Amino acid sequence: MKITVVGAGNVGTTCANEIAISEIADELVLMDVNENLTKGKALDLWQTSPILSFDTKIVAASDEYGKTLGSDVVVVTAGLPRKPGMSRDDLISTNAKIVKNVVENIVRFSPDAVLIIVSNPLDVMTYAAFLAADGLSSKKVFGMAGILDTARYKSFIAEALDISPKSIHAILMGGHGDSMVPLPRYTTVSGIPIRELMSEKTLNDIIERTKKGGGELVNLMGTSAWFAPGAAAAQMVEAVVKNQRRVFPVCAALNGEYGLNNLHLGVPVVLGKNGIEKVIELKLNDEEMALVRKSAKEVKSLMKVLDDMNIFDKKFAHLDPIE
Ligand code: LAC
Repeated sequence: MKITVVGAGNVGTTCANEIAISEIADELVLMDVNENLTKGKALDLWQTSPILSFDTKIVAASDEYGKTLGSDVVVVTAGLPRKPGMSRDDLISTNAKIVKNVVENIVRFSPDAVLIIVSNPLDVMTYAAFLAADGLSSKKVFGMAGILDTARYKSFIAEALDISPKSIHAILMGGHGDSMVPLPRYTTVSGIPIRELMSEKTLNDIIERTKKGGGELVNLMGTSAWFAPGAAAAQMVEAVVKNQRRVFPVCAALNGEYGLNNLHLGVPVVLGKNGIEKVIELKLNDEEMALVRKSAKEVKSLMKVLDDMNIFDKKFAHLDPIE
């Protein structure tokens, strides 16, 4: 099993670290345009192997896509992170060109790889990667956001109830932005509906904090988060590599599910060796569906920004507008 992580920044190296330690691959390629930094990080990571006891081979690559040849799974974290005062959307033009270049090259050397996109703004970069991977099934190109956003939601609930985060189960839908849709009706503490344990006010405060969870960290640290995003991406890699068929919220291409078409949006899926094995359609009520559609509309408008940049020949934003 060979896994490539593109981008040796905070998120990429955290993800690589998790992958190396868990020994789910025999070879892990860490790739970044910054040659010395990548070599250094790969070497440092490799030097943890005797301490943490793993034998995953670590390879550093700069622009040498040949080293990624035959990767089974590729995680794309390349691109600029947010600075305070920036929204994820401010990154579209810079990161779209980076993602396009990376994905086109990756697919040339690993035409059957599963691609997990992490670059921001997440939903639009997943769309950009899908366009760049022209020919690769949309089931194999998807984005990491829902696991991260749900983790934030679960961690806030765990803290408020003083209960282990392991006992919190939840699902969240929509785009990776302030319009994301945590779903209290699908949130339980080991099967106990959350509303039996928490006031509506506390729950709503947690939902609002979750929606702005990434921004909270950008304001604290001056750059975007990495522990939880890196761990979330690594968890998706593991689900694919081990064919776990775990159910996760993932940014997936929608083809009629939830009455939505021609966009990438966070939905629950079954994740296995082929990537997205199945999109799960929840029986949402009208209020939940309205929130999902609102989020879908925001993602579509960002897709249009990308389309209008004319980086790709194909354009999907104008198809099936969300009224
Ligand atoms: C966050 C960034 C990685 O939500 O999007 O922390």
